Amino acid sequence: MLYDQIEQAVEFIRRKTSLNPRVAIILGSGLGGLTEQIETACIIPYGDIPHFPVSTVSGHKGQLVFGQLNGVPVVTMAGRFHYYEGYSLQQVTFPVRVMKMLGARLLIASNAAGSVNPGHEVGDLVFIEDHINLLPDNPLRGPNDDRLGPRFPDMLNTYDKELLNKALAIAEAKGYRAHRGVYAVLQGPNFETPAEYTWLHRIGADLAGMSTVPEVLVARHMGMDVFAASVVTDVGYPPERIKHTSHEEVVQVAAQAGQRLAVVIRELLGNLS
Ligand code: HPA
Repeated sequence: MLYDQIEQAVEFIRRKTSLNPRVAIILGSGLGGLTEQIETACIIPYGDIPHFPVSTVSGHKGQLVFGQLNGVPVVTMAGRFHYYEGYSLQQVTFPVRVMKMLGARLLIASNAAGSVNPGHEVGDLVFIEDHINLLPDNPLRGPNDDRLGPRFPDMLNTYDKELLNKALAIAEAKGYRAHRGVYAVLQGPNFETPAEYTWLHRIGADLAGMSTVPEVLVARHMGMDVFAASVVTDVGYPPERIKHTSHEEVVQVAAQAGQRLAVVIRELLGNLS
């Protein structure tokens, strides 16, 4: 049963570290650089943790990093799981449930994304204000365990407005290009066709990606606050702007712009109420 599996994972981790994380951070493709800023207390490879899936994509390390970031106790997922890897969405989101049970009240999720907003440029930061779930599945599908959260979680105010506004202010003060935007999630692993990017633009999305939303759904199910941010690694709209996209380029752009995102996250933590 899911609840028992979470408890077993938590019990295992508790034997390795006594740190009580207040914030859970998920680092997306190429965004692993933030871990260098953590005063590390403990690192646990996913493979050691009961019931944790193991990450298969390059650019994703696959370990939980516990420590202090700007004075705040955090647990960081260096490497996440994606639906396109073949995991169920329950597996993809299992670590979020574990991090919540370890004490995290806030989820900070990051990702690399394609932009379908003509005002965006490669390397821009976009703080997510809402999402459109285009995945063929949902991590909350199946019997609901009321100990974890409600059957029908509300999706109004999913993304914390105060944190989003603070992040925009921090980025502005640093002179970074940054926006608020709507993130559409698709299953991948292919990038979108020009017609698909145009369709995403028309339905109200600013960004296209393959992650984050399942984790956010589970975080909200468990009552966590959420802040999420994308790094624009390619542009998909209008069609004349589209170039060939490769995972290597995505990781490279994310690694550069990710340094700016790391600064924003660090300052955001210093500002937590
Ligand atoms: N589409 C979907 N996911 C992505 C993209 C994209 O263009 N870029 C990075 N992740």
